[in-house]
Amino acid sequence: MRFNDRSWCGHIRLSDSGRAIRLMGWVDALRNHGDVLFIHLRDMSGIVQVVFNPEELQLDIYRRAESLRNEYCILVDGHVVSRADTTENPNIETGRIEVIASDLTIFSRCATLPFSISEKAMIRGGTAAGGGPVSEDLRLKYRYLDLRRPTMQENLRKRDAIMQCVRACLHRRGFIEIETPLLTKSTPEGARDYLVPSRIHHRRFYALPQSPQLFKQLLMIGGMEKYFQIARCFRDEDLRPNRQPEFTQLDIEASFIDEEFIYELMENLVVEIFAVSGIQCKTPFPRMTWEDAMDTAGTDRPDIRFGLRFVDATGIFEHTNYGIFRNIIEKGGCIKGINVKGRSGDLSKNVLQNDYAKEIVPSFGARGMTWMRVVDGKLESNIVQFFSENERYGLRERFQAENNDVIIMIADQSPRIVNEVLGLLRLHLANRLNLIPRNDFAPVWVTEFPLFEQTRSGLASNHHPFTAPRRTDFDPANIDELLRLRSRAYDLVINGEEVGGGSIRINDRHLQVKIFQALGLSDADVEEKFGFFLNALGYAAPPHGGMALGMDRMISMVLGTASIREVIPFPKNRNAYCPLTDAPSHVSYRQLSELGLLDSTGGKWVEGRKVL
Ligand code: AMO
Repeated sequence: MRFNDRSWCGHIRLSDSGRAIRLMGWVDALRNHGDVLFIHLRDMSGIVQVVFNPEELQLDIYRRAESLRNEYCILVDGHVVSRADTTENPNIETGRIEVIASDLTIFSRCATLPFSISEKAMIRGGTAAGGGPVSEDLRLKYRYLDLRRPTMQENLRKRDAIMQCVRACLHRRGFIEIETPLLTKSTPEGARDYLVPSRIHHRRFYALPQSPQLFKQLLMIGGMEKYFQIARCFRDEDLRPNRQPEFTQLDIEASFIDEEFIYELMENLVVEIFAVSGIQCKTPFPRMTWEDAMDTAGTDRPDIRFGLRFVDATGIFEHTNYGIFRNIIEKGGCIKGINVKGRSGDLSKNVLQNDYAKEIVPSFGARGMTWMRVVDGKLESNIVQFFSENERYGLRERFQAENNDVIIMIADQSPRIVNEVLGLLRLHLANRLNLIPRNDFAPVWVTEFPLFEQTRSGLASNHHPFTAPRRTDFDPANIDELLRLRSRAYDLVINGEEVGGGSIRINDRHLQVKIFQALGLSDADVEEKFGFFLNALGYAAPPHGGMALGMDRMISMVLGTASIREVIPFPKNRNAYCPLTDAPSHVSYRQLSELGLLDSTGGKWVEGRKVL
């Protein structure tokens, strides 16, 4: 068998007519005309039609061809001929030619398929057998079959092209790719760790990295200056559509830099990544402070492809007689709204009152909403009668209201609820009214995040505790002051999705200790968890900063796939389970006792230790 004589199915063209070729691949589809047999032969380059004609073949070869079924793995010898105009197949790149077989070898037969794989119809205007709905778990259980589909092949090929592009771009700019350990100590990124028990050090555990954060900072202290890694990260967190327990980051860190270096670097990188799919993206990307994002879009992941920016109407109602608003303002609340321009035709009184005010908005967590339609230059609604002439005028001015506009307002004692609910409403309306240009990509930097956030268990870092604050003269015991602090962190958001995040880091040991104190960690906790890192910071750490880009999210967005699982070869399902390998799975008592996790004599589980 001469494997190296092989030609690629997808590369054969009209100019190859008459050429003798040898092809190898899988039977994508078959058509038996009784007098002649056609197959689509597929390899990683594409599909070509092969013809088995009994008049030109030895009988045993034809019989073998008749035994072919979908997905058999075969070798075909033959020669290329052009097709008649009427039989050309526009569904495949090689549709103007076909291969007349002279010999056939069957490498291996295929068991009954759990779903059809073929995505390309054999005739013009025909339909392919596959491509219909198949449950995702079934696809994942037979991922090796799912991967044969041209769509998945294309997704992984583009993923590879994007990774190549990223590597080339960073190398051009002097970055070097460095691997950091997977068996390591926990780095706090806000999720739970995946733990790996040590056989040699009983009752001790490695943690799989939630990110290479501390190692990349140690690399900066180690003088590496420009690091990147296509890094696998592990986070045991509640699964959401665009999250995987194991995912890939493009992780970057550089020394002697500030925010502007990162913005410029990442913007160019993102432009190149989009260009792999032929999408143009303009730089510089707009920037928005966290506060501005929350105030105008109600989220730190603003989708800026469409308007519906929030308008603050609190001032208009400062002296109002309308009891509900007066009460809210007196209690420190606010009134904000959006103007849905020119859409009163789509948002009738009935829809606004019964769908939105009674159902949708309460389901978002607000007690109610106020709506007004602009008709004949006047505001029209069920409550506008309670507003003074001045207030009505103020609303028209502030919202720049014109005929056929619809103004929707949320009022609440809690400005956080107002922003959150209005943010959800903004997205709901944009989807309902088709306001989102689906083919646009709108990146935006969100900056100046709060350094800390209040959680049920106390103060926590908004990003991670190594992020530099914008001010360093704070009192680590003053919670109010801490909650007002802003950080030197930045997120890259595209179309309302966080694709990356990073920050300028703390390079001063004392400041890092102060942050740990602010987080309520005792000296012993700090020593146990971060002693090695604080030690390193004592040896003249350079100013440094960096960022990580979620590559699965980025690639999924560039390719326009429905989920990140479509661009990951072997993802977990929505329950963090792998239907293919059945992981996670049980292990034997023996393994557990070898690891020191089970007392082999008494069958008792080991006890944990009180650490962070
Ligand atoms: P962060 O936690 O923001 O930052 O992660 C960076 C990016 O990784 C992606 N991402 C995920 N993708 C898929 N599944 C997940 N479970 C998941 N979690 C995160 C997101 C996110 O923006 N060490 C810092 C970076 C730094 O400061 O340099 C970090 O990991 O797209």
